[in-house]
Amino acid sequence: MMNGTLTIALAKGRIFKDALPLLAHAGIAPLDDPETSRKLILDTNQPNIKLVIIRSSDVPTYVEYGAADMGVAGKDVLMEYGGDGLYEPLDLKIACCRLMLAGPVALKATLKNSEARMCIATKYVATTRRYFAAQGKQVEIIKLYGSMELAPLVGLSDYIVDVVDTGNTLKANGLAPLELIANISSRLIVNKASMKMKHEVVHALIARIAEAVEMKEQKRTNSRRPQAK
Ligand code: ATP
Ligand code: PRP
Repeated sequence: MMNGTLTIALAKGRIFKDALPLLAHAGIAPLDDPETSRKLILDTNQPNIKLVIIRSSDVPTYVEYGAADMGVAGKDVLMEYGGDGLYEPLDLKIACCRLMLAGPVALKATLKNSEARMCIATKYVATTRRYFAAQGKQVEIIKLYGSMELAPLVGLSDYIVDVVDTGNTLKANGLAPLELIANISSRLIVNKASMKMKHEVVHALIARIAEAVEMKEQKRTNSRRPQAK
């Protein structure tokens, strides 16, 4: 958290792409493209606002410890990170997907009745454990860092917990969505000290971004409404 500067932590890829128009509405435009630049700190058109480009699962850590004042992180990442060390003032309604239990189509019928201990591969270890503990179920969890869909195909696990959007990845691997764990979208998160110490600039930014989210939602609803003849 550099003095006089506001630092926003973002992951490249879909979050960066979807957050860009929201930042633009708040008058912030990066001067480099993280997909082509090797820079990890990007200047913006506003000399006092910088973007730091990090792994999506590292965003809450940077923001909680004040290495960034604000950030954008998926609710899946925030649920897994846990704790109450961050403010989460705004649902940005981008990178929407569902956190799901999934598995081979053949296991769908047996899921509810099976007494056997489930074996689940996932990168969402804490969230998965919490979800099943709330149902009084103890499950075996195998920690992976990606490509979870492979695990049931090679006998590493019976089930997986992963994010699902179109369902194409599951389908392509002969898997089916079985249970919804949580609806996911990306959130704006804010460092607790920054919220106080940089109150004016942080609040102004939240308000502008909230306005952009609202306008986008309105546009979406209007375009869904049947046109009057
Ligand atoms: P890491 O770099 O740590 O592996 P990642 O690969 O999950 O993270 P992204 O794929 O950019 O990073 O996903 C960022 C966020 O976007 C996720 O935390 C999730 O909230 C959301 N997301 C992931 N996959 C999809 C998808 N297929 N459709 C919509 N949103 C998604
Ligand atoms: C994510 C996620 C799933 C897939 C789901 O992967 O890990 O594999 O999207 O989306 P779908 O339901 O529309 O198929 P992503 O494409 O981000 O690649 P990644 O593994 O590099 O994160």
